[in-house]
Amino acid sequence: MATTIAATATAAMKTKTTGNRRDNDKATTRQRQTVPRAYNFSPGPAALPDAVLECAQAEILDYQGRGLSVMEMSHRSAEFVEIAERAEADFRNLLGVGDDYAVLFLQGGATLQFAMVPINLASEDAVVDYVHTGLWGTKAIAEARKLCRVNVAASSEEDNFNHVPHVDTWRLNPDAAYVHVTGNETIGGVEFHEYPNTGDVPLVADLSSTLLSRPLDVEQFGLIYASAQKNLGPAGVTVVVVRRDLIGRARANTPCTLDYSAHAAANSMLNTPPTYAWYLAGLVLEWLKQQGGLEAIAEVNERKARKLYAAMDGSNFYRCPVAKRNRSWMNVAFTLADDSLDGAFLRAAEERELLNLKGHRSVGGMRASIYNAMPEAGVDALIDFMAAFEAEYG
Ligand SMILES: Cc1ncc(COP(=O)(O)O)c(C=O)c1O
Repeated sequence: MATTIAATATAAMKTKTTGNRRDNDKATTRQRQTVPRAYNFSPGPAALPDAVLECAQAEILDYQGRGLSVMEMSHRSAEFVEIAERAEADFRNLLGVGDDYAVLFLQGGATLQFAMVPINLASEDAVVDYVHTGLWGTKAIAEARKLCRVNVAASSEEDNFNHVPHVDTWRLNPDAAYVHVTGNETIGGVEFHEYPNTGDVPLVADLSSTLLSRPLDVEQFGLIYASAQKNLGPAGVTVVVVRRDLIGRARANTPCTLDYSAHAAANSMLNTPPTYAWYLAGLVLEWLKQQGGLEAIAEVNERKARKLYAAMDGSNFYRCPVAKRNRSWMNVAFTLADDSLDGAFLRAAEERELLNLKGHRSVGGMRASIYNAMPEAGVDALIDFMAAFEAEYG
């Protein structure tokens, strides 16, 4: 696999831009089709690197000479166990996850983690602290309320979730079983750019839309969870990084499928895992290593976000509602001065093959999700388009 993705990744780095399409360079190490690809700003499932899709395409019928697809393999086979172990090793390596943490590849999305976290880390009468910075936090809180006593330690709801409340205003409970934050609110585009020290109370974070976008000090956290379909792969896998001393505390009678200790003991193969999604996540991790790892991708991500926000701040036509200190590197939310132009904006963007810029149905406006796989040229194309649209309608 390493050789295959290396060849395809090298080829992808040589892609050339024609208009707003990325036409694959024919001068590559192996025969490839020329497939024009649009820039996909979807919040998730989101764009995947061309090199990853090409590698999957090349291997779809015959995985490395075995004569069968990864989709057709037993999850217990030596081939698949190797794929799974390599993905975990690469993940640990990229993020610097030590042996004192278990890395689990689960199912059920981040949504299932909204319930699994309290089931595993808190008793029914325990208090848990939640910091409420957007609609994913709302869902996490609603689920936790069914399972224990929730203290909303801080909330930006009154301000339309346009910032993360300053940590010195948080009303934390010293006896809380954990403190929960949503590291990046995918809908509102509000991100923590640093995390507080919560002392002996474990910090738990939903990092679905920010994990792997930059280096992270995992030791700050008791538990991290993330759905894959932004920076890690296709939908179907949810990664959980949990400090080992927090495993084994699930409530009595917890079904094994909801118990971290059962998943950890079974190496995330308690039941049949989503093998193909896991394999693709492995290819994404390999690609990420080839981009130079998290420091290198963070540099690109910060630059992409900075130029997009700068384009909005320099215009009276576009507006980003998020406080500057919490603007997300991954999901850039913005509005047009006149929302009756939203439809025209989206149609014109699609004509330029700039796809999925519509904001979430609950908040409206626009949102450009610019995860790791969005090339900088895609952000440049969006900025050019926005300027042209403003010139015409502004
Ligand atoms: C921050 C965040 N949390 C949770 C979720 C829910 O993930 P899933 O639909 O995989 O359960 C999402 C999905 O977009 C998200 O962005």
